[in-house]
Amino acid sequence: MNSPTSSWTIYEPIAKVRSVKDLSIYYGTETGNSRFVAETIAAEARARGAEVSVEDLVNVTPSRLTVPGRPVVIVISTWNRGKPPFYARRFCEELEKGTVRMDSVHYAVVGLGDEHYELFCACGRNVDAALEKAGAVRFAERVDLGASFRKLAPGVAKTLLDAMAKLP
Ligand SMILES: Cc1cc2nc3c(=O)[nH]c(=O)nc-3n(C[C@H](O)[C@H](O)[C@H](O)COP(=O)(O)O)c2cc1C
Repeated sequence: MNSPTSSWTIYEPIAKVRSVKDLSIYYGTETGNSRFVAETIAAEARARGAEVSVEDLVNVTPSRLTVPGRPVVIVISTWNRGKPPFYARRFCEELEKGTVRMDSVHYAVVGLGDEHYELFCACGRNVDAALEKAGAVRFAERVDLGASFRKLAPGVAKTLLDAMAKLP
């Protein structure tokens, strides 16, 4: 005989409600330091339950950033008097032309450099400004990392993801 409660079905939640958004992380690098920072941010995001892509800017055009509802983090170093890393030059040139509108894009930039250079993290600064000019909306202030980037990267990751969690 059925028990009095047998007609009740208890549904498990289909998916956990997550406060973290899926995101795309792009890096521009010459010696791998920006990739290290990008991977550190990705590891923290995955630990919070996000689906994360991490990609070298060498393969990316600015229009790829415009995925609705998917925030973007760009980690990029500076070389030779404020220039982008070699492999990210094409991306930076296209971005600075300003031909792609970025109105739906939430973004944050992490610049890498060395405090001994006059144009410390200039490329990160330029990318941040170009995104803003193209209409993108910054969800966290740019961070400029110098020689101690390895030590600081985990804290930067937490700060960025806490800020991202506040996005609507
Ligand atoms: C030849 C050379 C030029 C550099 N020029 C700059 C510069 O103009 N501004 C800056 O902040 N850092 C400069 N750097 C420091 C690099 O940006 C720093 O080492 C960074 O961590 C490299 O990151 P990446 O491996 O992701 O390219 C320069 C380093 C070298 C070796």
